[in-house]
Amino acid sequence: MFDKLTKQPVDKIMELMQLYREDSRDGKIDLGVGVYKNAEGVTPVMRAVKEAERQLLESQETKAYVSLVGDVAFHDAMIDLVLDGAVPRENVAAAATPGGTGAVRQAFELIRMANPDARIFTSLPTWPNHLSILDYLKIERVGYRYFDEDTRAVDFDGMMADLDGLRAGDVVLLHGCCHNPTGANLNLTEWQRVIDLLNAKGAIPMIDLAYQGFGDGLDDDAAATRLVAKSCPEVLIAASCSKNFGVYRERTGILMGISADASKTKLVQDNLSFLNRQNYSFPPDHGARVVTMILTDPTLRKMWVDELEETRLGMLRLREQMAEELQKLTGSNRFGFIAQHRGMFSRLGLPSDVVEKLRKENGIYMVGDSRINVAGLNAKTVPILAKAIADSGV
Ligand code: LMR
Repeated sequence: MFDKLTKQPVDKIMELMQLYREDSRDGKIDLGVGVYKNAEGVTPVMRAVKEAERQLLESQETKAYVSLVGDVAFHDAMIDLVLDGAVPRENVAAAATPGGTGAVRQAFELIRMANPDARIFTSLPTWPNHLSILDYLKIERVGYRYFDEDTRAVDFDGMMADLDGLRAGDVVLLHGCCHNPTGANLNLTEWQRVIDLLNAKGAIPMIDLAYQGFGDGLDDDAAATRLVAKSCPEVLIAASCSKNFGVYRERTGILMGISADASKTKLVQDNLSFLNRQNYSFPPDHGARVVTMILTDPTLRKMWVDELEETRLGMLRLREQMAEELQKLTGSNRFGFIAQHRGMFSRLGLPSDVVEKLRKENGIYMVGDSRINVAGLNAKTVPILAKAIADSGV
């Protein structure tokens, strides 16, 4: 049997992680995988997470199963964090999932179960794993223009022109904030125009919200998602706690299915439960429980909000420093977009041979499309990266 297996494509981000680990050079710089790192290069356990885990260790008396969709208290807390009352609770079905990727995967499967003819529109570019999972599930996908390679901002006209090709029942995958991999985002006026177009076409929005709190703040980063939730008759949201709670390996995420007609919520809820049962039965609990404790305890919540804000502001400072350094070194404002982008990532727009040269000669690791993880930098490494880019002659 095994000899019938064929070689699978390697995930470029995972491959890069491996190359970085194997590099023995001092001073190598990891701007690859989307994991937050502080100025010392450490991915810390957040203070509120440590404290919640300590309390949990003392108080938890059973590890018995919870439910196929996880704990309702986790749903309530996350629905509140993401939607903040934008829609009534009874309109939202939810299931805990193994990370944001689990939520994305379950959403795609739900779409396929509901409408096998639905095509899923994805931004050009998008997180490569979106495409990989869609292809694996044999769901038809259509790319829509998103990133303008010259301005490194959103190509909004191109996006709207491509979305004009939507058919009723198609799904549009949108990044709620902090677009991965580009860092370029729509403003709220543009979101409203996208919403109007989707509603006119009878298309359904699916939002991937993996970086709430990493861009402009917890509420600002959810503003577009809330607008979509209250403006569209049906919405899917895949939210991740990996980054904003720093609980990556605990696999903590949630899928929400919103219906304007609350009488549909039970059917959606039952289908989410069914899907979890088929794929992995009970979702992981530890991370979800820790997140719930943090969101529902005012002291822990404040601790978390404060640390998340420090994290966010730190990344913004690095963006500004990087844009300034490049301004000095190149004598132009060509890299000013780095300070405009939001979230963990920016796509720099460097050719692939330069990306490779930076890795081989300078020990600077970024994804092949020139996406950098800003959090992989610190005040000392920003000038090193800026100089290497300026010296590359781009
Ligand atoms: C990334 O884009 O680097 C992260 O979302 C991590 C991953 O799983 O790819």
